[in-house]
Amino acid sequence: MQVYDKTKALMARGAAFLGSETAILCGAMSWVSERNLVAAISNAGGFGVIACGAMTPELLDTEIGATKALTSRPFGVNLITMHPQLFDLIGICAKHKVGHVVLAGGIPPKGSVEAIKDFGGKVLVFAPTLALAKKLLRSGADALVIEGMEAGGHIGPVSTSVLAQEFLPALAEDFLVFVAGGIGRGDMIAAYLEMGAAGVQLGTRFACATESIAHPDFKKAFFRANARDAIASVQVDPRLPVIPVRALKNKGTEEFTAKQREVAQLLDDGAVEMGEAQLRIEHYWAGALRRAVIDGDVENGSLMAGQSVGMVTAEEPVTDIIARLLAESEAALTAR
Ligand SMILES: Cc1cc2nc3c(=O)[nH]c(=O)nc-3n(C[C@H](O)[C@H](O)[C@H](O)COP(=O)(O)O)c2cc1C
Repeated sequence: MQVYDKTKALMARGAAFLGSETAILCGAMSWVSERNLVAAISNAGGFGVIACGAMTPELLDTEIGATKALTSRPFGVNLITMHPQLFDLIGICAKHKVGHVVLAGGIPPKGSVEAIKDFGGKVLVFAPTLALAKKLLRSGADALVIEGMEAGGHIGPVSTSVLAQEFLPALAEDFLVFVAGGIGRGDMIAAYLEMGAAGVQLGTRFACATESIAHPDFKKAFFRANARDAIASVQVDPRLPVIPVRALKNKGTEEFTAKQREVAQLLDDGAVEMGEAQLRIEHYWAGALRRAVIDGDVENGSLMAGQSVGMVTAEEPVTDIIARLLAESEAALTAR
């Protein structure tokens, strides 16, 4: 049995906070991070997170219950802050006494952090700037995830390496900071831990695990892809602020450009308000991702993937992926 002493020592704070063996989170991935992958990650000593995405409170209720049936270990729930029923979803997390809630997709709305803390849940947040991160952590958030633009899915404009240099020296001593985006090997995990990270979050590396329900064709597209194939979407209309999404290049990425033009035209015609226009774009992504992940339509669907996709070459059980990451991290720390 491998021990990974050095890595685990550096992960101790993060693991104690999560209640897991290692401070490796599998970031929530809409349609992918459901009961099977989440339970497999937690059972393997990592920390799984259910992607609520656009789920209704009823569906989330079922998913949490089903995940609990597959693991007795801690896992979290990722809620998108712009979800119109955010507070009902928090109510479902309260009902199940979910230990950790990740608030993603924007600044947590007033009262949301408090509502989670009220039932004893711990809150993880994202923040685009250091100033906002400090504000959120001082006003109740328990931990921060910094996510660079190398990541799959919705992304910000700054790379993980720059975010790490900016946020970790300023925050890591007093707060728990998890680093996400572009991590494909344990050497990189070791580096962020040495900089003070409490742990790491990976998505792309776990999306094609054996336990992931993603369609075999979705997985094949990942195995074939190189880093340069995972491109960020382009905003076509300055009036329609669209959060960029990193995904593998296909017909779907081109269709997204057309979709933006269509929604911009509706804005021009006064047929929709800005909020509605942005929601339509988000619904487009959710539908397109479902088409690729569940239906296996890798031509027209959205193959959200990070730049680390080039390091994903075969289907492997979650236990093997985590063991490899830990071994690589340990080797890197031992060589120093
Ligand atoms: C297919 C896919 C779907 C994702 N969906 C979500 C989501 O619903 N909510 C969220 O907060 N992050 C989402 N992410 C981001 C991941 O949680 C994670 O932070 C990211 O994948 C980490 O970077 P990496 O892909 O470079 O490992 C998604 C990522 C991928 C690849």
